[in-house]
Amino acid sequence: MSDKPETFHSWSLEYSDYDAKKEKSRESLLTIGNGYLGSRGAMEEANASDTNYPGTYIAGLYNRSTSKIADKDIENEDFVNVPNWLYLNFKINGGEWFDVNNCKLISINRKLDFCSGQLHKYLVVEDEKGRQTAISSKRFASMHNPHLVAMDYRLKPLNYSAKISFQSALDGQIINDGVTRYRDLNQKHIEPVDQKTTKNGGWLKVRTSQSKIEIAEAVKHTVKIEGEKLAELNSRTEEGKLITEFNCELRQNEEVKIEKIVSIYTSKKDDVADALQSSLDTLERAGCYSEVLDESKAAWKKLWQKIDIVIEGDSKSQMLVRLHLFHLMVAASPNNTNIDASIAARGLHGEAYRGHIFWDELYILPLYNLLLPNVAKSVLMYRYRRLNEARANAKQHGYSGAMFPWQSGSDGREETQVIHLNPVSGEWGDDYSSLQRHVSIAIAYNVWYYFHVTGDTEFMKKYGAEMFLEICRFWASKAKKDTNNQYSIANVMGPDEFHETNTNTKGGGLTDNAYTNIMVAWLFEKSREILNKLPEAAQQSVFTSIKFEEKELDYWNTIEEKLHIPVSDNGIIEQFDGYFKLKELDWEAYRKKYNNIYRLDRILKAEGKSPDDFKLAKQADTLMTFYTIDEKDVKSIVEKSGRHLPDDFLSKNYEYYLKRTSHGSTLSRVVHAYLANKCGIKEDGDQLYLDALQSDFSDIQGGTTAEGIHAGVMGATVLMIMKTFAGINFKKEILEINPSLPSKWEKLKFSFWFKQNQYFVDLTRNKLAIRVKSEISDQIHFILMDKKILLYANKKEVFNY
Ligand code: BGC
Repeated sequence: MSDKPETFHSWSLEYSDYDAKKEKSRESLLTIGNGYLGSRGAMEEANASDTNYPGTYIAGLYNRSTSKIADKDIENEDFVNVPNWLYLNFKINGGEWFDVNNCKLISINRKLDFCSGQLHKYLVVEDEKGRQTAISSKRFASMHNPHLVAMDYRLKPLNYSAKISFQSALDGQIINDGVTRYRDLNQKHIEPVDQKTTKNGGWLKVRTSQSKIEIAEAVKHTVKIEGEKLAELNSRTEEGKLITEFNCELRQNEEVKIEKIVSIYTSKKDDVADALQSSLDTLERAGCYSEVLDESKAAWKKLWQKIDIVIEGDSKSQMLVRLHLFHLMVAASPNNTNIDASIAARGLHGEAYRGHIFWDELYILPLYNLLLPNVAKSVLMYRYRRLNEARANAKQHGYSGAMFPWQSGSDGREETQVIHLNPVSGEWGDDYSSLQRHVSIAIAYNVWYYFHVTGDTEFMKKYGAEMFLEICRFWASKAKKDTNNQYSIANVMGPDEFHETNTNTKGGGLTDNAYTNIMVAWLFEKSREILNKLPEAAQQSVFTSIKFEEKELDYWNTIEEKLHIPVSDNGIIEQFDGYFKLKELDWEAYRKKYNNIYRLDRILKAEGKSPDDFKLAKQADTLMTFYTIDEKDVKSIVEKSGRHLPDDFLSKNYEYYLKRTSHGSTLSRVVHAYLANKCGIKEDGDQLYLDALQSDFSDIQGGTTAEGIHAGVMGATVLMIMKTFAGINFKKEILEINPSLPSKWEKLKFSFWFKQNQYFVDLTRNKLAIRVKSEISDQIHFILMDKKILLYANKKEVFNY
């Protein structure tokens, strides 16, 4: 190996080889999109196979279906893979269609350009007759008009002349086949409705089988050989498929250029009434590739001005941070302000978790609050629109208030499966994960955080306070007084999914999960703060609309003071009641035997053991508390409930739980990285951060990236730059800044919104340059390394630190 450090392009992700084993994971990472839709970076010529998987997903587009598993009817709601618009392939002199998996690749380069949003491909291939062909393509999803996607495909015979036949398609003869372990389930979600040809392409309309949503795609092609337009394009249809074919007589080194512009709409409530008509109209108005691109590039440029983070001194981190920002924008961008959807755990990039929405919003929305508050609000509105369903869910389980589902899809009902396939043992087992009621905590936390950062009182008046109080009500009804006059919360799971039940709890679930209980106490406390910040009339109007009585607040306070939060004598907060009595696992032996022990649960179950019996965790659980709220607040909540914590309780808990965590979720490392930095263990923190930052890039879990990116870790790793490395605490009324750059970073530059002011921060290892653009105040205060600083609006100042 050479000692030369690896260098990375700061504005692109590039691959210069083809590795069939890694291809699906690269397709996820090469996905293009705009928040409305995402299209995986599969090669144009590929159909779905074990190596390639072209998939296109639309935010919030789901379909429900039933499958028979072990004699049981299992219902699932899936993220629909919509007709593949990417397909474009060729053959030489009537031979076989080109197959990238069956040719000699002389050279290959693929590049996702974050700045323009384009995916580029360059190939030189040779067939068995020694004919060499150069292929290049570019494609993008318009950030300007989210319904438009476009492709520019070129081909040149390098050492021969021949008739090249092309086939381009809108292919609706597809199923959801992106996740191998879902193959036993019904994978067919779309049915053909109609398809017609036009002179330069045609259109296709399909419908989802249960949700009855129409999806229309319309396409136009322009084909030019050395600048001369080819007139003869023949289109034909099959049920659910539109095929456009043409032949080109190409001499050696003559280039054919094909432009494929596609417009996509659905009849989803937040989309349009007539999906087909809108597709046709938009397509007709759309210009050529470069015109559509120019509009999209301008939109991306505006977006990057708001979101970019510049890192100097570490080209890998720079590239990865922009990669994460890019994919977050593919998953949810300013286009989403008009879309009724949240950010799927695996983005618009794949089918894992069926496009469902989890608590992962907790890792993502705090970043959107700072960069694109309107998008954060739109995601909170996705939850608000499903508040009635959450109320019904609580009622059905015997509780008051609102209990949001662990996995949410189209209408907000619980979408979590009741059984789950263990790929290690090949067996289906019970799935208790819907007992992760802490998802409601994440939603309330995000409501509070959004309000705190943006000061959007209107949102709070109309929607936020109602959601927050209904969630508090749910928790108050879930807390039960025990014989010791203490309050206890039973039948829940914490974020650590390896512990599903205490041996003595029927139907799954644990008692007094520390993260849940501490956060519930925090919610109760914040409810008073939120109400105090609302004008009297607004408060009354919320109270009336949900029949809220102030005595409920008193009751919440009582629970808060008596909530069971067990702490050991040496200051370790017990993950849940009974955790300390569990067996220790021989971590070294398991590491030796299995090498990769991320999914210890599957390993133990396949060995006939139960993870419930051991002290282990999939991801941060107790430690999550220190990620969401400040150390001081944890201490005050625990002490209010009658327990004592030593001064060094954070480091003690960090050390104790880190040793017993397998990082089976990508969400784990970033939390530990954050806490390592908080504990002053900088080297470990930097390493854990780097691991988290490259979790998708290196497909750290060995295959899961192929099924979609991990939006939570992408959001959290970007946010951590502001929270930890720039050291900004956003949770107080004024900002506190304590920068501490990773050892390699020389400079860090970014901007963000806080309380309606826009901050521009430029940091070196010992200087902070800061400017605040404000339309509401002339003077802004903040605290830099414990020193109160006064700053005049719109004036850049530089401070040594
Ligand atoms: C994690 C959950 C997460 C889910 C979706 C699981 O592996 O344990 O915390 O919400 O993935 O990202």
